[in-house]
Amino acid sequence: MDRSIYTFGPFRLSPEQGALTRDGQRVALGQRAFEILLLLVERVGEVVSTADIVTRVWPSTIVDENNLRVHIAALRKVLSDERTQAPYILNVPGRGYRFAAIVERHFREAEGVKFSVDLPVPLTKLIGRDSYVRKMLEEMARNRLMTIVGPGGIGKTSVALAIAHELNGRFVDGCYFIDLTACTDPHSVPDAVAEALQIPVTSATSIASIVNSMRLRNCAIVLDNCEHVIDRTAEIVEAILKSSPNIHVLATSREPLRAESESVRQMSALDVPPADVAGGMTATEVVTFPAVELFAQRVAAVVDGFSITDANAPLIAELCQKLGGNPLAIELAAARVETFGVAGLLNGLSDGLSILTQGRRTSPQRHHTLRATLDWSFALLNDTEKTVFARLGVFFADFTHESVALIVADQHLDVPAVIDALNNLVAKSLVAVTREEGRIAFRLHDLTRAYAREKLRYDPFASEVHRRHGRYLYALVEASSLKQRTNDPESRATFRLVGGESRGVPCSN
Ligand SMILES: Nc1ncnc2c1ncn2[C@@H]1O[C@H](COP(=O)(O)OP(=O)(O)OP(=O)(O)O)[C@@H](O)[C@H]1O
Ligand SMILES: [Mg+2]
Repeated sequence: MDRSIYTFGPFRLSPEQGALTRDGQRVALGQRAFEILLLLVERVGEVVSTADIVTRVWPSTIVDENNLRVHIAALRKVLSDERTQAPYILNVPGRGYRFAAIVERHFREAEGVKFSVDLPVPLTKLIGRDSYVRKMLEEMARNRLMTIVGPGGIGKTSVALAIAHELNGRFVDGCYFIDLTACTDPHSVPDAVAEALQIPVTSATSIASIVNSMRLRNCAIVLDNCEHVIDRTAEIVEAILKSSPNIHVLATSREPLRAESESVRQMSALDVPPADVAGGMTATEVVTFPAVELFAQRVAAVVDGFSITDANAPLIAELCQKLGGNPLAIELAAARVETFGVAGLLNGLSDGLSILTQGRRTSPQRHHTLRATLDWSFALLNDTEKTVFARLGVFFADFTHESVALIVADQHLDVPAVIDALNNLVAKSLVAVTREEGRIAFRLHDLTRAYAREKLRYDPFASEVHRRHGRYLYALVEASSLKQRTNDPESRATFRLVGGESRGVPCSN
């Protein structure tokens, strides 16, 4: 058996596996057409006579030359490459056919070759992400590097695992799933990657040695949970992609890799019932929302006989909304239903960080509590980003570049540095962006805001930040017309504040 692998353009031909792939995706090809292609590729540059082709491909049958032409036409169709435009198979009249492309022949090592990869098996059903997974698979066929970005617990790993199972069957060498959570030191990333890719790990695994071993593989690699070792991961990914034409990479991270050719896809929360109608919804209506379905499933697993009824449906809808449709927050809330009941949980959510504290023992440490999930992101910020994030906790509603510049900046932290940090916080999925009628605004999720306000207590200039915010709100109230007041989110928050909901925000001075 010929263990070589031939590559030309975006194609890779493996006689051993009987497979032709284009950009990592298997191309459907009949047995005869495959053998004709292999013969032409093996003798690239030479004119291969019709007689030679027939003898090799139809050794014991008499074949009409038209039959061969049909197969050649089919091959040409499969090999059409808009990047080069030039045909791969040339007809030399009266003599035969010639394969006209630069073909590289590689010799595959016998050991270490892997055709299917053992992936972690998800223990629970993925809810509400079918179309996201489908769309990502389509996009991954075109893009060699994609990153799923979103806040902690939103479901990036769960979705990436579902995608990995699909990719495993689509690449000749399968799909490798590499969880980088445990790599606390960026220097350990090459070892972790090499081990997962089944490349011998030496005392000093270099990126070059990984690249060399991967050159001929035809596979997908999922790099999961990259944010804490993002620079090193981006470096490895770029190096692999540049030298291995048949490898596609999917990364999950709370922020983009910012690597060459990366396509970033945000992951948003699971759909929740809309606030304005949730109060009147029945059990049948609320369970159609994936956030509610997840909540119901997780509660039913711990509370015997739990079900959604018309009576508890509105409360559950409101709860899922307050949890922002975040699957981890929903799971943590579900784990407390036995103790607090749904209504009790809803009340307790005003102090959500203290209540969402009972994660699965087997889940990663950062998923044990919601505070731990936010700690993980917070620890990765630089000092300026930490200060700005904590100060953003003063905003009860949407905020803008202007309001941030006025309230967060001070004599120690200038406006450009604050705006820069704000943009980084958006990239790191701690601050959400809303775009309405061409207006860009920012927002902290309620639970993230609670966390930011906890951090603000450690800011020596916290009282000044509160004072500036109070003055800003006061000026807004004074200056706004009634119409502006009812349309502007920060004005609406002001009215709530004036109405006595404010805690610790001085409105005078
Ligand atoms: N669509 C879903 N259906 C069912 N469970 C889900 C779904 N999405 C997430 N979960 C559950 O929520 C929890 C958090 O999900 P996951 O680990 O995928 O989040 P993540 O975005 O990767 O978080 P991190 O940023 O911390 O890595 C897990 O326990 C997972 O099982
Ligand atoms: Mg994850």
